[in-house]
Amino acid sequence: MLSASEIFQAHLAQTSPHPLQLEVGNAEGSYIFDKAGKRYYDLISGIAVSNIGHCHPKVVNAVKAQVDQYMHVMAYGEFIQTPQNQLATELTKLLPEDLNSCYFVNSGAEANEGALKLAKRITGRTELIACNRSYHGSTHGALSVSGNEVKKNAFRPLLPDVRFIDFNKEDHLDQITECTAAVIIEPVQGDAGVRIPSVKYLRRLRQRCTDVGAQLIFDEIQTGFGRTGKLFAFEHFDVVPDILTIAKAFGGGMPIGAFISNREHMSLLTHNPMLGHITTFGGHPVNCAAALANLGVIQDERLLDQVEAKGKILASTIEHPSIKEIRRIGLMFAIEFETAEMVQKIVLRCLEEGVITFWFLSCPESFRLAPPINMSDEDLICSGQIIHRIIEECA
Ligand SMILES: Cc1ncc(COP(=O)(O)O)c(C=O)c1O
Repeated sequence: MLSASEIFQAHLAQTSPHPLQLEVGNAEGSYIFDKAGKRYYDLISGIAVSNIGHCHPKVVNAVKAQVDQYMHVMAYGEFIQTPQNQLATELTKLLPEDLNSCYFVNSGAEANEGALKLAKRITGRTELIACNRSYHGSTHGALSVSGNEVKKNAFRPLLPDVRFIDFNKEDHLDQITECTAAVIIEPVQGDAGVRIPSVKYLRRLRQRCTDVGAQLIFDEIQTGFGRTGKLFAFEHFDVVPDILTIAKAFGGGMPIGAFISNREHMSLLTHNPMLGHITTFGGHPVNCAAALANLGVIQDERLLDQVEAKGKILASTIEHPSIKEIRRIGLMFAIEFETAEMVQKIVLRCLEEGVITFWFLSCPESFRLAPPINMSDEDLICSGQIIHRIIEECA
């Protein structure tokens, strides 16, 4: 008989030569338990997904209640489904006035695909501008605007007419012109290793896009839903995008994404051609019910209020002289060392010691932390102390 690991390797397509292979038994709050019952502190939240912890009872109950009513009934956009209506109502209440029309999709990459297509329709232009070291997803369009050359080269040709600028570099903003359909940018870069731009940069970017008539797309797929201490990272900068994309933590552990714009612009997808973007499962009612409960938890439990204080607690517990830099906003961390080898050792040793950390796609000298935003102070300290001890050991 094959072991679980052998089946995993034989019959599941692999993404890397060295998967972590933690065999999950169950998950609850800030913990994942393996099949043998060993408890792990989850300090990455499935990569910025389980922001309110695993299996929050309110999300679980919402899912169960919706499953009892109905599951998939029709492709997105035809029938009126209460969970979609409720979610769009509550979400748009929390967003700036012009972000009032939500198109629900299945993932982050698809949210960005929709946003890029919409920007082309709004402007009648084709040029897309993105940032070096950005990550926007793995489908052809989203990959085309991602700034990691190594990850892209094997899949060319990708989308034409894509130009890259440096993140947080004001000098590069004049490359955005009357030819530009959209600038797609993470307001805080995630997979580049938590890069936080200046307020001045994002405001100048906003102004430049307005001046030349380009759509500004904020990809908040990783930064959304409290990760940075605000519901959305753009609130730190007081800069509003034309199109917002979300996914990951949106569904409270269920898969759902969205691109959000204003009603008038969004209506361009309904003609010339009709059905300009379609999806069978987008806005799945069970996932919408989960997302609505997730939003309710963040608000009712006032989770945003504690994120910065929790971030400081974790940062101060981990601090160690061999750390080159800690880049942090809220509970989104990059812990940087001199070498990628050091990072490699620490991540694997942490796993052995029951603390889940992870790598970045485009920043090998740092490891990431993104714990649930409601992780208890005690657990942040305990897990932070383990990381500190391992850094000491590996230094
Ligand atoms: C900023 C950002 N955009 C887009 C994506 C792609 O999202 P998904 O994996 O749901 O397609 C990710 C995923 O890591 C992301 O971090």
